[in-house]
Amino acid sequence: MATILGIESTCDETSASICIDGIIHSNVIANQTVHEKYGGVVPELASRAHQQNIIPTVDQSIINAKIHKNDIDAVAFSRGPGLLGSLLVGTSFAKAFALAKNIPLIEINHMQAHILAHFIEDPKPTFPFLCLTVSGGHTQIVKVNDYFSMQLLGQTLDDAAGEAFDKTAKILGLPYPGGPLIDRYAKTGDPNKYSFPEPKIPDLNFSFSGLKTSILYFIQKNLKENPLFIQDNLADICASIQSRIVSILLNKLEEAAHNTGINNIAIAGGVSANSGLRTSLESLGIKNSWNIFIPKFEYCTDNAAMVSIAGYYKYLEKDFITQDITPLTRWALD
Ligand code: KG4
Ligand code: ZN
Repeated sequence: MATILGIESTCDETSASICIDGIIHSNVIANQTVHEKYGGVVPELASRAHQQNIIPTVDQSIINAKIHKNDIDAVAFSRGPGLLGSLLVGTSFAKAFALAKNIPLIEINHMQAHILAHFIEDPKPTFPFLCLTVSGGHTQIVKVNDYFSMQLLGQTLDDAAGEAFDKTAKILGLPYPGGPLIDRYAKTGDPNKYSFPEPKIPDLNFSFSGLKTSILYFIQKNLKENPLFIQDNLADICASIQSRIVSILLNKLEEAAHNTGINNIAIAGGVSANSGLRTSLESLGIKNSWNIFIPKFEYCTDNAAMVSIAGYYKYLEKDFITQDITPLTRWALD
């Protein structure tokens, strides 16, 4: 039996999970509402909230899994990439817990964990597969050869897809994080009402900063003519923005599938919760005869279940690290 405690604290979610023999028995997530009014995560406030949340979150994950803390065989934690102050809380807790219980410590790359969330439940992808990982800080197309053998095929040159959602939501006066709100308003809007440009970026890379600027100018121009332009057209604006972000992502994913000949296609990360992205990927999968893999909602945004499952696979390989480890704010996938 292998019982793994997973800890996630890279950004603004404090999360703890128990994985027993590859099955998730608990996944507790403490969200931080303190950032809403600032239009983005405030790093100092995030690390303070992690400090308050970490012990109750871990406690609750142990209670929910109906185990005792002495049953834990190893501690896996997100070592990065992320915010330094946030990472320090999870890393320090994981190190202290492993030291106190004299059990192994396992480092996890948060971006790999998003991808390995696909191994929590069936159907699981077979190797190799392509994964479009879209979060608040990253936008990547990854060729996944094995659990921990991943190759970056393309990435954003500026903003991440999640940032594109959050920054345009801010332009519309919506609170942080704006991605889920744009998704909600888009449901009743017309995606063809307004047209935003698709950037021409070489290879499998992305760019979202031009789109953000064109949306800003579009809103400013229309507000001059009608101060109620946003209120009057919110659903159509959100649907049109979402549809462009989704087409930018999926056009590159289709190109990657074409270039590599791989037809096992997955999405992961917070933006993979987006309903427009999920339904468009389903249609594209049917068109191209792909096997597609879309995570359950609870495993899209930051969570520790993906860290504990990744920890389980490293535990099987006895891939442990020593106590002198420190967090990595940047950490390449390959
Ligand atoms: O993976 P994640 O929870 O954290 C990071 O590792 O960054 O991703 C958070 C991002 C935010 O930008 C948030 O707005 C976006 O995911 N997001 C969404 C949706 N749910 C979360 N974006 C669009 N539609 C959604 N439904
Ligand atoms: Zn994430």
